[in-house]
Amino acid sequence: MLDYSEKVRIFDTTLRDGEQTPGISITPEQKVQIAIKLDDLGVDAIEAGFPIVSQGEMEAIKTISVQGLNAEIYGLARTVETDIDAAMNCGLKFVHIFIATSDIHMQYKLKMNRQQVLEKAIWATDYAKKHGMQVEFSAEDATRSDRKFMIEVFKAVAGAGADRLDIPDTVGYATPQYIGELVKDVKEATKKVPISMHCHDDFGLAVANTISGINAGASCGHVTINGLGERAGNASLEEFVMALQCLYNRRHGIKTELLYETSKFISNVMGIVVQPNKAITGENAFGHESGIHTHGIINNPLTYEPISPELVGRKRWLQAGKHAGAHGINAMLEDFGIKPEKEQLRDIVEKQKKLADKGKSITTADLLSIAGDVMHNSKFEEKFKLCDCHIITGMNIIPTAVVRLSTDGKDLIASEIGVGPVDAALKAIQKIAGEMANIKIREYRLDSISGGSDALAEVSVKVEDKTGNVVSARNAGEDVVVASVQAMMDAINKTMLRKIIYSQN
Ligand code: KIV
Ligand code: ZN
Repeated sequence: MLDYSEKVRIFDTTLRDGEQTPGISITPEQKVQIAIKLDDLGVDAIEAGFPIVSQGEMEAIKTISVQGLNAEIYGLARTVETDIDAAMNCGLKFVHIFIATSDIHMQYKLKMNRQQVLEKAIWATDYAKKHGMQVEFSAEDATRSDRKFMIEVFKAVAGAGADRLDIPDTVGYATPQYIGELVKDVKEATKKVPISMHCHDDFGLAVANTISGINAGASCGHVTINGLGERAGNASLEEFVMALQCLYNRRHGIKTELLYETSKFISNVMGIVVQPNKAITGENAFGHESGIHTHGIINNPLTYEPISPELVGRKRWLQAGKHAGAHGINAMLEDFGIKPEKEQLRDIVEKQKKLADKGKSITTADLLSIAGDVMHNSKFEEKFKLCDCHIITGMNIIPTAVVRLSTDGKDLIASEIGVGPVDAALKAIQKIAGEMANIKIREYRLDSISGGSDALAEVSVKVEDKTGNVVSARNAGEDVVVASVQAMMDAINKTMLRKIIYSQN
């Protein structure tokens, strides 16, 4: 009988399989920062890396292992002495040992026959156990392996003392039905040893396959934040955990309200942008534009939201645009304390639709500018005016910006250095206005609209205030620094609008 009240174990491999995402390379310091974030999130195990691959990797794993984290810290190892020794030399007590059991891997990669693979698997497990390590053993490419042989290997390593058995769907080739049968067979043969699932997303089935394994008796999912990993990636932690909790009523130890923050952090450090329409952590996962949807959401969020955004550390947001209706636009303006008359609202909706018809996505700043034009209200006047902005940049000098803004008849000046001229200028602006507006930059994007060195640069920024309200703004021009400064000024002024109106009400 399966015990569905049992907590599902979360084995995070963002720092190992996730770091194998093509193009990613992070520093040992960044690995440590990520491990701490994962531990705060509540994962049960962290695969910190593959110790044998480099000196830097070893140093990072060693440092992670002495952080006093709650999670079990694993290192990956092949069935060879040097790899297992490397894991031990990092101070690890947990090792994830793997060897391939599929014919295609044995013939073309390992150049070993079944007997040799079996012997290696037993030897490595026995060696690690004799050195006091806890072993999770993976039969790589399990889902394309001859089932009888793979089970023979699992039984043998269980006999040698393996503490956990992992079933990798290495090339994401299995279906949920197939995984279900496979897990039942492995469980039947190996009895009490806990089983993990390690699924790749080549057919977009990684999460479904991991869940199918859990429903068939596996007790642990190997996952990565944002679904990072080789090729199409691994099962995404956030999707797996939320599906377990909301659709299957299963328990886990993840603090779900930290999911978004963790996803953002890892996306920034690893330099891999999360696709906007990704479940749970994609930018659009809790955004609504169409009139029908926003109307429903305003009346009762459950109409178009299966879970509340707060559950995963997010906020719902509405988007202006050609599909938007009066209810949605009114709610967006109301959020800033702006209450247009019926006629004015109709005009605002029409004007923003006309702008959207030109192929532009409507930023918060666009909508508020339209509202300002229609409503002719002095409240819409800009709080901060940009007087001048001097930039010093070039080779072998530290980019420096000096910015002068005026507000309420006073001049405010700040200078800042940065990694480049844009960074320096935005930091200087934030130094002056940021304090009053209490904002941080949540997103900065630069697109080139035309080709050539005289290309038009389009800068989009999103700033977030202390309470999580986001304001988006955009500016285009030939000069990247000027466009960035203008977009930032617009975003800050629109953020201030909310503060000014609420303080007057
Ligand atoms: O996908 C895979 O098979 C792996 C193994 C190392 C377990 O990542
Ligand atoms: Zn993998």
